[in-house]
Amino acid sequence: MIEKVKQYFYDLCKDKHFRWEIHVESVVKLSKKLAKQLGADEEVVEVAAWLHDIKKIQGEREKHHVYGSEQAGEILKQIGYDDAKIEKVKRCILTHSSDKAYPTESIEEKVLASADALSHFYTFTLLVQAAYLHVKPEEVKDWLLNKYTRSFGKMMPEAKKLAEKRYEAIKLLLEES
Ligand SMILES: [Fe+2]
Ligand SMILES: [Fe+2]
Repeated sequence: MIEKVKQYFYDLCKDKHFRWEIHVESVVKLSKKLAKQLGADEEVVEVAAWLHDIKKIQGEREKHHVYGSEQAGEILKQIGYDDAKIEKVKRCILTHSSDKAYPTESIEEKVLASADALSHFYTFTLLVQAAYLHVKPEEVKDWLLNKYTRSFGKMMPEAKKLAEKRYEAIKLLLEES
């Protein structure tokens, strides 16, 4: 099952920017780590992690959590995944984006949302590259500091613990000399 989901993800990434593989592989790894630690359903969390940004990968940023959740549901049905688990995966994707209309409830939902934010602390160079694409060079440091402060604030305590030292290191790196 996971193999089919991974295959779908890598097919989708073909000819797209390399950042999606780096981001999603990191979210998968951290989701599994947190799920294990917290006793969440590891399979649901992993499937949701592979599929959580499929709409963004296809270039749709607007409500990517809402439409991505729908698309993931359809794909998983085609693959023949368990109906009850499909619903859980869909909820994880719908709630991962800190949209107030869709707050996280289950532990699986909280794990994915935290892993998504936590991944930024494990892919620093990717975030630096993104910063240079998004804002003027003189605004890069502030953009990064904002991004990391928001990501840190979003996470569950267990994820914060994993990010703590990295957050301090990043703040140090971004300090003006
Ligand atoms: Fe997302
Ligand atoms: Fe993401």
